[in-house]
Amino acid sequence: MLKMKHQQNKNIFPIFDKIAGRAEKEQFLNQKSKVIWMTGLSGSGKTTIAIELEKELLKRGFFTQVLDGDNVRAGINNNLGFSEEDRTENIRRIAEVAKLFLNGGIITINCFVSPTNAIRENAKKIIGATDFIEVFIDTPIEICEKRDVKGLYKKARAGEIKDFTGINAPFEAPTNATLVVETKNKTITQSVDDLLVAILPLITYKK
Ligand code: ADX
Repeated sequence: MLKMKHQQNKNIFPIFDKIAGRAEKEQFLNQKSKVIWMTGLSGSGKTTIAIELEKELLKRGFFTQVLDGDNVRAGINNNLGFSEEDRTENIRRIAEVAKLFLNGGIITINCFVSPTNAIRENAKKIIGATDFIEVFIDTPIEICEKRDVKGLYKKARAGEIKDFTGINAPFEAPTNATLVVETKNKTITQSVDDLLVAILPLITYKK
């Protein structure tokens, strides 16, 4: 696979500089595009919060797209599993996809477990530090496991899923996230309100 990558590179001529630029599209959409990168355990509430955040942003005239692990893994990444190598590739691809949206002026809200510092650093490198807003959805594993919306914690405890994040695969909590949302004592509305306060200034259009 790597060999192929090298062979292809010589014969590939990207035209990023010729297509209409990000600035033009941001002006058209009247917004600054960013990647809002939610990280957290399975069942921590990333997608639920993203869906509500997106509704609030759409109401305020922002153009957004939610990118979610389960959706992406049902499509573009349906050939990937949960080994460290596959998760790295999962996040690399989705970071590249988010970058395409970013260059199209669109705000993406990414919901991926993205369990390690190295994986998140790579996403940040691909997207660019100034456009990468890291949000840690900080829900203790006991709560995720108690909720167990998808029944996956039960299966993981029963040994039916290997490499399950938080049970038999690592989750490294980010130490320098742009924002931390502690969901434990908060409603979804409160969590979304806190996010809005922090995010709105970053996506509001200024020349
Ligand atoms: S990541 O680690 O590569 O970032 P991603 O966010 O795409 O993971 O997918 C996580 C989702 O896949 C979870 O919310 C859960 O529904 C499902 N899933 C299935 N198996 C696992 C597993 N072994 N570890 C974590 N999540 C899993």
